[in-house]
Amino acid sequence: MHGLFATMPEVTMLNGCVVANLFFEDSTRTRGSFETAAIRLGGHPITLTSSGSSVAKGETLIDTALQFDAMGADVIVVRSGLNGGAELVAEACDAAVINAGDGRHEHPTQALLDFFVMQDHLGDLSGKRVLIVGDITNSRVARSHLHGLRALGAHVTFVGPPGLVDDSFTSILPCDGVTVSHDFDASIPEADAIIMLRIQRERGSSSYISTDYRSGYGMTSERASRLTAQQIILHPGPVNRGVELDSMVLDEHPGSVVLEQVAAGVLVRAAVLKRAVGGEFSAHEGETKSIS
Ligand code: CP
Repeated sequence: MHGLFATMPEVTMLNGCVVANLFFEDSTRTRGSFETAAIRLGGHPITLTSSGSSVAKGETLIDTALQFDAMGADVIVVRSGLNGGAELVAEACDAAVINAGDGRHEHPTQALLDFFVMQDHLGDLSGKRVLIVGDITNSRVARSHLHGLRALGAHVTFVGPPGLVDDSFTSILPCDGVTVSHDFDASIPEADAIIMLRIQRERGSSSYISTDYRSGYGMTSERASRLTAQQIILHPGPVNRGVELDSMVLDEHPGSVVLEQVAAGVLVRAAVLKRAVGGEFSAHEGETKSIS
């Protein structure tokens, strides 16, 4: 997967489009992969963070986005701590808007790239069983996974301590095929894919960063040694090493696909960017075509 871009003949799919990346929460993977994807496709990314921009003087997300809309940005990528922040920008601006994570609400491109990796390993996800483990309550990734995995026909089990995953979470999308468990070990044998989520210190979960959490809900080396060769381990990153994942599991376990997720992030975000400016991009074939 890592070499796909190197073999792609077409590097002008964005044809000079300006991609304004407004990142008002910290990011490494999402920001870096949107920038990389835009550059690889012949676009021009401009990235703004709170520090060093007029946001530091009190300018709002919407006012900031309107400035780039007025400058003629073709795409505005938004990461914001505000639930629904990207949608508000989309309502205010003419540019195409992509949600790169909004508060505890959604992180749709993370979900898409995770589906890409899971399909690469597991094939059709219909009927597959996916565990999502950890800080579910604070996770925008979990919400996007829930919507997408159910649309793809997968069964989802949320796993975590009662303080981080409660039964009411599933009420955001009442449907069959979604369960909650507080017993990680009992849930593992049924899983095709296990998505470990980060404990989100910045959203008030730092008290869970403990050896007790690792014992109950971490993918320790001992737990990983019980996985079959078909089971895969994902984590959207950044990882709290030794909490959600032992370093040996993250770096050396054959089922760990965490860096494949990062590589897929460039491909999937390239596809989303191309789609945003009015075309389609096939990560598998390196082809573009118009949307009719
Ligand atoms: N997974 C993810 O969104 O990572 P970043 O916060 O580093 O972008």
